[in-house]
Amino acid sequence: MKTLIITGASAGIGLATARRFAASGWAVTNISRRPCPLEGVNHLRGDLSAPGFLDALRKPLSVALQGADAVALIHNASRLLNDSAADTSSEQLRAVFEVNLVAVNALNRLAIAWMPSGSAILYVGSTLAEKAVPNSYSYVVSKHALVGMMRATCQDLVGRGIHTACICPGFTDTEMLRAHVPAQAMPSVAGMSAYGRLIEPEEIAETLFWAAVNPVINGAVLHANLGQVER
Ligand SMILES: NC(=O)c1ccc[n+]([C@@H]2O[C@H](COP(=O)([O-])OP(=O)(O)OC[C@H]3O[C@@H](n4cnc5c(N)ncnc54)[C@H](OP(=O)(O)O)[C@@H]3O)[C@@H](O)[C@H]2O)c1
Repeated sequence: MKTLIITGASAGIGLATARRFAASGWAVTNISRRPCPLEGVNHLRGDLSAPGFLDALRKPLSVALQGADAVALIHNASRLLNDSAADTSSEQLRAVFEVNLVAVNALNRLAIAWMPSGSAILYVGSTLAEKAVPNSYSYVVSKHALVGMMRATCQDLVGRGIHTACICPGFTDTEMLRAHVPAQAMPSVAGMSAYGRLIEPEEIAETLFWAAVNPVINGAVLHANLGQVER
């Protein structure tokens, strides 16, 4: 059985991705605070912001991983704050890193031991993994670091038959975007893609599925942003 382990499949890109993999017959295990609404998904309640979140999940995750023919581990959940380089405290920065980086590392450490050749570790980045905009400081910093983690994963797993990539979505129609962008600004945000629209979560899900089954892209940063218009 092929197995997807994903964080943040209760909503948005994660939910669409869980649906995409399940449609191709993969067993899906999700970690998030709210349940994944899809029938048949193994939901493990977990809060990635809690340093010991993995303690309670170690056993059920190893059950989900053991005996899998191939595993796709997708680090999708993340935290986005409105903050700036001038006023972010170390505590705030640490709290964002806990979800966006430290929990990712903890999951890798557990899962890699169980991952057979033919598996994949995919990181969901952002256009802000490679550039910065004002007032998304801790997110920009952590997404840049995620690219470094992906590249280091590629190098450290040489010879294991596990490939990795960072898929960087542009503006995608999800809760996270709606929480960050005021409704009146949404049309102009949609206009920042060359297609003049937001990306659908399903389009990112399809890209993640493709990346999971194509090891040739090992170590790649993939832009999935409909052609972001730079002004
Ligand atoms: N939407 C965009 O425009 C956009 C653009 C670029 C990159 N991205 C990236 O795409 C990924 C998915 O974002 P999205 O837009 O789909 O966001 P979303 O709709 O807000 O979903 C975020 C998911 O992350 C989970 N999550 C957040 N904090 C968590 C925590 N502490 N513990 C466990 N789970 C947590 C949420 O689950 P619970 O709330 O149930 O815990 C939810 O399932 C993120 O990495 C984001 O940075 C999004």
